[in-house]
Amino acid sequence: MSQKIWDDYFQWYYEANTWKFTFYRGVRTLKFPADMWNYQEILFEHAIDNVIETGTRHGGSALYLSDMLSVRNPNGRVYSIDIDDSERAYSNHPNIHFLIGSSADEAMVHRVTQLMGENRGKIMLMLDSDHSCEHVLKELELWVPFLRSGDYLIVEDGCVNGHPVRKEHGPGPWEAVEIFLKKFPDLLVHDRVRETKFGATAAPNGYFIRK
Ligand SMILES: C[S@@+](CC[C@H](N)C(=O)[O-])C[C@H]1O[C@@H](n2cnc3c(N)ncnc32)[C@H](O)[C@@H]1O
Repeated sequence: MSQKIWDDYFQWYYEANTWKFTFYRGVRTLKFPADMWNYQEILFEHAIDNVIETGTRHGGSALYLSDMLSVRNPNGRVYSIDIDDSERAYSNHPNIHFLIGSSADEAMVHRVTQLMGENRGKIMLMLDSDHSCEHVLKELELWVPFLRSGDYLIVEDGCVNGHPVRKEHGPGPWEAVEIFLKKFPDLLVHDRVRETKFGATAAPNGYFIRK
């Protein structure tokens, strides 16, 4: 099937604002359902033990990831970081560790490293906070060195800046990934099979495995 069909479908989905009113267990999540399905497949296929998410917002994606993770690894935790918790729909969850602060702050990486400890197992890192190129590049430079071989990285919302939506956005996650890969060509393997599995994704140029 041609890419244009998927792009047209995703453009319809995005412009209809469906992504703004998608819920998991009653909590809003700004995710594309086909990506959600990919995420739980990745948790099991890659035997992920813990998840780090930048950008909590309402907490729907953290709740979903924590539910899926708790089946795979009952001791696993989701570490979910946001600079602002005013929109979060719930305050506490036994398997989610909420952290307040910037994901582009080196101290945040140290904090999460300490909380996880040495025996952290396999990690899925999901970047879904500020979608400016500058911020995502900073996140990549801070967090990718924290990953170990076999850990999984998702960079959300590469779809903006005309890939294929919001042409007016300006450089975003897609462009940050391009800059990062040019600077560090040997750190990440692009998991294109996973990324294209369901045709459309909100995270084009966003699925990677740490070499
Ligand atoms: C796209 S929303 C997250 C959506 C959520 N992951 C979901 O799928 O439901 C982006 C969030 O990133 C947060 N954010 C913006 N700048 C940030 C920063 N520098 N550090 C951490 N979080 C930030 C915003 O407050 C907002 O809640």
